[in-house]
Amino acid sequence: MKNVLLSTRDLKKVYGKRDSKFEALKGIDLDIQKGESVAIIGKSGSGKSTLMHLLALLDKPSEGHITLNGKNTSNLKQRKLNRLRNKEFGFVFQSFFMNANDNVLNNVILPLKIAGVRRSERRRRAMEALKTVELDDKAKNKAKDLSGGQKQRVCIARALVNNPKVIFADEPTGNLDSATGAKIEELLFNLNREKGITLIIVTHDEELAEKCDRQIRIADGKIVTDGKGVAKHDPSFIEDENLDGMRDRNHTKEIDVEAE
Ligand SMILES: Nc1ncnc2c1ncn2[C@@H]1O[C@H](COP(=O)(O)OP(=O)(O)OP(=O)(O)O)[C@@H](O)[C@H]1O
Ligand SMILES: [Mg+2]
Repeated sequence: MKNVLLSTRDLKKVYGKRDSKFEALKGIDLDIQKGESVAIIGKSGSGKSTLMHLLALLDKPSEGHITLNGKNTSNLKQRKLNRLRNKEFGFVFQSFFMNANDNVLNNVILPLKIAGVRRSERRRRAMEALKTVELDDKAKNKAKDLSGGQKQRVCIARALVNNPKVIFADEPTGNLDSATGAKIEELLFNLNREKGITLIIVTHDEELAEKCDRQIRIADGKIVTDGKGVAKHDPSFIEDENLDGMRDRNHTKEIDVEAE
């Protein structure tokens, strides 16, 4: 399939050794198409961030492999991987935050510096990205002085400054009030629609997940459902066809059938 951007086969990730060994991913098969918006959902500890880190080539799988544009990435040397990531991917991670004491502009410029873009061009492109997120007026402010939502927008500016093919976002609207969260969402989906950037978003927010083309639900290191409408209509939570008393397998959540 020529439109497949990222692909995994029997992807596994084991953390720790011996007694503390933990299998966080237990065999993930996945094809992500170019231009798709994909939500990765599931309970805390299910393996969402682990999967995203592997897809973003930030970490190596214990077994299985990942192909990017049809090329196996397993044997790439670290330098090549770093270059590839810097060129193709943008990251909106809360824990991946910026240099707090540096100004906003320098934070956004960083990926361009790594890519070896010349000085004047760097500045121009970073300012353009800051304009997109409506923060060009904060270019000279220290990153640490911004509000949470503004920091998140700087992260988006930095994520898109290199014209990436994919943006990876881990809980991009977590810790934000709903109005700011909505703004961040709008920004991300605009990039998806207008520039064809593939979005891969880890989220606990089912409404945000519903806005994506596709929802992949992870439980216990495995994909349990994959498709459109999964966040609301998740067959993995249905014990039998009888809708009365429908509950999830762990009996932790009542499914509100009427809400559909
Ligand atoms: N570096 C690590 N060493 C050991 N165990 C880890 C490590 N990173 C993650 N894990 C474990 O792997 C499992 C999956 O973690 P992961 O961070 O992928 O979960 P998640 O689905 O993103 O959860 P959350 O919604 O809370 O962010 C968890 O049980 C976690 O404790
Ligand atoms: Mg996580």
